[in-house]
Amino acid sequence: MANFSGKPAQAALDKFKNRNIMDISSLSKEDLQTIMQTAAYYDQALAEHKRLYDMDGKIMAALFFEPSTRTRLSFESAMERLGGKVITVTETPAAQTSSTAKGETLYDSIRVVNYYVDVIACRSPIKGARFEIERAATVPYINGGDGSGEHPTQALLDVYTIYKEKGGLDGWTYAICGDLKYGRAPHSLLDALCKFDVKKIILASPEELRMPRENIDKIKDLGIEIEECFDLDYAAKNADVIYMTRVQRERFSSVEEYERNKNIFIMTQRHVDMFKEGAIILHPLPRVNEIAVEVDDYPGAAYFRQAGNGVPTRMALLALVTGSVK
Ligand code: NCD
Repeated sequence: MANFSGKPAQAALDKFKNRNIMDISSLSKEDLQTIMQTAAYYDQALAEHKRLYDMDGKIMAALFFEPSTRTRLSFESAMERLGGKVITVTETPAAQTSSTAKGETLYDSIRVVNYYVDVIACRSPIKGARFEIERAATVPYINGGDGSGEHPTQALLDVYTIYKEKGGLDGWTYAICGDLKYGRAPHSLLDALCKFDVKKIILASPEELRMPRENIDKIKDLGIEIEECFDLDYAAKNADVIYMTRVQRERFSSVEEYERNKNIFIMTQRHVDMFKEGAIILHPLPRVNEIAVEVDDYPGAAYFRQAGNGVPTRMALLALVTGSVK
């Protein structure tokens, strides 16, 4: 992988203007490189405490119709760091504050918000909502998670984190672990890893929470070695990058299904002791109980640093799609 320095060439930047960030499948490997290079460029500026004005005079709408801490706050921080402004709706079906409570459709809400802002970051509890939002949006739209569907900005900050922590993405064995059925972060990460020259991807989950067939079928012709297993020990022993995820309680159809699965994959010091040299652990967070707190002391426990990388990555996305990289 290229060692990024400076911002991408103008031709690469121009390819992003007015684009939506829907999912990873609709981005090319070159697109991922451009995003990572732009993220690295802003990361450097942040490290140097530079004041940036790339998005001066622009407004982002953060429309979050599902709980969020990292995604929304890092989008908002990213916009502020670029000198832009933010307007926000945060609500859940149980506590609605926007006109959704009056029965307005997401489509209509987006049609209106188009007039207020230059870019929209939106999270919906509905899988596939990104297609409805895309139909309504006339300003660039960035998917902040659509139900159990996709979470492209998470996958982009994940690959950027792997690049920073491991010096590149090629040649490693990856293990994506936990709730691969309902977790949108694993769905998007699988697509992202497939763009690189990875050695192998282990999909480790409780039997009931396997990666959906459609997600595996989508990548099966790429010639990447995919191995499914139901054992966290195997993943811990064999992977260079171990990606843990939370069991997505809110997406289960029954309490019993959740109860049966919630404690099957828990990473402890026992697993850390099995790791390959230099292995890292990632997690999109929030963590419930799937990584014991004792594991945080392991130097390769990178999940908090990973959350921090959400800011430069989302700065890159906001600036790219609005044609604002200065
Ligand atoms: C993830 C999400 O919302 O899908 N969180 C995040 O964006 N960092 C993972 C999760 O909620 O388990």
